[in-house]
Amino acid sequence: MILTVTLNAALDVTYRVPTLAPGTEHRVEPGGTRAGGKGVNVARVLHALGHDTLVTGFAGGDTGRAIRAELDTAGIREALVDVDAPARRTVTIVSTEDGVATAFNEPGPRVSVEDWTRFVATYHSLATRAAVVVLAGSLPPGLPDHAYAQLIGATATPAILDTAGRPLVAGLAAHPRVVKPNAGELAAATGIDDPPAAARWLRERGAGAVVASLGPAGLLAVTGDGTWRVPCPEPVHGNPTGAGDACVAALAIGLAAGTPWPERLADAVALSAAAVAGPLAGDVDLDTYRRLAPRVEVLDAHADR
Ligand SMILES: Nc1ncnc2c1ncn2[C@@H]1O[C@H](COP(=O)(O)OP(=O)(O)OP(=O)(O)O)[C@@H](O)[C@H]1O
Ligand SMILES: [Mg+2]
Repeated sequence: MILTVTLNAALDVTYRVPTLAPGTEHRVEPGGTRAGGKGVNVARVLHALGHDTLVTGFAGGDTGRAIRAELDTAGIREALVDVDAPARRTVTIVSTEDGVATAFNEPGPRVSVEDWTRFVATYHSLATRAAVVVLAGSLPPGLPDHAYAQLIGATATPAILDTAGRPLVAGLAAHPRVVKPNAGELAAATGIDDPPAAARWLRERGAGAVVASLGPAGLLAVTGDGTWRVPCPEPVHGNPTGAGDACVAALAIGLAAGTPWPERLADAVALSAAAVAGPLAGDVDLDTYRRLAPRVEVLDAHADR
């Protein structure tokens, strides 16, 4: 089982309008309400591929109940921890004429010391049974920067960390097997603009491997086994939100199975591209995945060093 942790789970509401015009009234086409947050997106992709996955994190109040109900409908197993404060909502307005998405994200409820203690105990029992844990997304208000480090260090289960800023840097001390920053997160966390140098900086501080996602340019992986660049065989048009989460899902499958890095990375590039072709974050277009997977080339980038 692959356990995904979403400490700031959300109820994602999407509205569609022909064009978003500030200061005017819009009649919206309902675009759906779903459970969201990065770990939830990862679990959705794992579930679509038939992998056993379990979602945990916090989900309180009416929004928390709606998050659970939607996961149940989607057939995704969850062990979310109920708290008093309601889970956050996010609202995304998609202009159907140009595909531009505008997001409004609530910060999320403040986590109390008692809630955190209860969560850590639940996490410990779940993570002990997992093949891999994925910790993804920002920390909700109230949690210290080392919250992810505490979770990673609580069990020997290999961990993939996909977060940004201080929680990412603080998480390195607990030796996550893989970290997956995007280009902006990599530069911001390290203060280094050169992606290979920034990836080495993260490894020197405790990351087992760094898989940096560089948007349409694909992946740069700096691992103990080698350094690779993996471009996507063709650009895909669509919604790139959640492409990084699909990448993490592929990395989790590869880590659980012990797949060699080049194969794991090729799969991650094909699945991320399939997420761009999928309409909402957490959706993957399986035809795109199957079509691109055999065409991905993994380039040895040892010369970058
Ligand atoms: N237009 C595209 N065509 C093909 N592949 C893409 C495209 N955009 C992104 N990808 C793939 O998706 C991967 C992840 O994208 P990106 O670096 O934007 O992640 P991210 O910012 O972490 O995304 P998110 O956090 O929203 O899930 C890239 O490394 C690349 O392989
Ligand atoms: Mg991301």
